[in-house]
Amino acid sequence: MTQVDVLLGLQWGDEGKGKIVDVLSPQYDLIARFQGGPNAGHTLEFDGKKFVLNTIPSGIFNEKTMNLIGNGVVIDPIILKRELDNLKKAGHDPVAAGKLVIARKAHLILPTHQLLDAANEQKMGKDKIGSTLKGIGPTYMDKTGRNGLRVGDTTLPDFRERYNRLVEKHKEILSHYEFEYDLTEKEAAFFEAVDFIKSIPHVDSEHFVNGYLKQGKTVLAEGAQGTLLDVDFGSYPFVTSSNTTTAGACTGLGIAPNKVGSVYGIFKAYCTRVGGGPFPTELDNEVGETLRQVGHEFGATTGRARRCGWIDLPALKYAIMLNGVTELIMMKADVLDGFDTIYACTHYEHNGETIDYMPYDIISVKPKPILKAIEGWKTDVTKVSKVEEIPARLSDYIAFLEKELEVPVKYLSVGPDRVQTLILN
Ligand code: GDP
Ligand code: IMO
Ligand code: MG
Repeated sequence: MTQVDVLLGLQWGDEGKGKIVDVLSPQYDLIARFQGGPNAGHTLEFDGKKFVLNTIPSGIFNEKTMNLIGNGVVIDPIILKRELDNLKKAGHDPVAAGKLVIARKAHLILPTHQLLDAANEQKMGKDKIGSTLKGIGPTYMDKTGRNGLRVGDTTLPDFRERYNRLVEKHKEILSHYEFEYDLTEKEAAFFEAVDFIKSIPHVDSEHFVNGYLKQGKTVLAEGAQGTLLDVDFGSYPFVTSSNTTTAGACTGLGIAPNKVGSVYGIFKAYCTRVGGGPFPTELDNEVGETLRQVGHEFGATTGRARRCGWIDLPALKYAIMLNGVTELIMMKADVLDGFDTIYACTHYEHNGETIDYMPYDIISVKPKPILKAIEGWKTDVTKVSKVEEIPARLSDYIAFLEKELEVPVKYLSVGPDRVQTLILN
């Protein structure tokens, strides 16, 4: 029997998961998204074309790969329909090609979930999470509060009544906010999109994925967001509302822990974060601005400027431990091409102590990063296509990271295109 490999982000999201899942997808029979929703924006580039996927797994462009939206994902039917419409315009129709299925047990994001998200963020003012306003938090709250609607419910004769009952609850909550809204248009679009998603095959993801494994087929679980946004282990409360870690792949697809195989942990050669919350290595200065401009660090989903900073090794070590990472993937090395010196945070100074782990409270007492200077490679690596062509100082940087993190770096990405990817080990 085969096992499920997992690929997930080790930082605060946007590490380049979409690109690498696309690169790896020819090796897999099934790509399965296991958590999050359209708060994700996964970018893929190939043949001069660029696609951003929010809900659809990043294996969709591979001819032979099946794609599953797992039970742990929250689905906005309007956004999923729009994604599929856009793909169709670009000549890709995964539904017609029989390459996309969705889990019956995945929960639905209602228009009122988005309103609740917005109302809540507005009320929090400067303390807001900086959510993507896609309704993620309220939808997972209804899931764990046992109120939610699931994909499978859309085919029940009383779906409309169930919908109305939940919306009434939401309206009651919204009446406590000073928040104006008009649901009419969104509601019409929602029901149109619900009808549309009925045309995508619904499956029980637990049986579907385990069936693949039984037949000896290969499966890759695609994470969304990043470990430091995990609802349990991230920088709470500045997190998303799902488990973004390997454990989330088990609950988000219906696989047992002993069915997990390789765990690919993906990280940028530096670090970014979008939205509010602590970020110890943030560079709120010209250097950060350079990283943002060179790395085009603007959100794929919301267009917001991403906060930028140096790589954070205590945070990465924590993420590797939580996920059981077996192989690392380093992205966006090319963004550091022009720097004379780059820096890596090896420890924090926190409450007068030098520590090499993420302490509980990093909000009221900010950890001060202790940085190690590393000589830059000052070479354009975007056209490097063979391991032998990697500049020595970039190889040194990778060797340093491998030593610190105690996990091999298997892939190196030197540009956004599919082909700008090197296998190292
Ligand atoms: P994801 O959410 O983890 O899939 O990542 P995003 O798509 O949100 O953000 C990654 C961004 O970096 C996208 O714009 C990618 O096209 C781009 N990208 C990915 N890998 C590289 C790389 O190695 N170098 C550069 N310069 N850009 C990259
Ligand atoms: P991908 O999959 C980066 C952040 C938001 C906010 C916090 C909570 O593209 O890496 P939410 O809408 O989930 O309630 O927002 O999480 N966030 C992301 N940041 N990449 C993402 O996804 C993100 N999804 C959510 O900015 O700080
Ligand atoms: Mg993204």
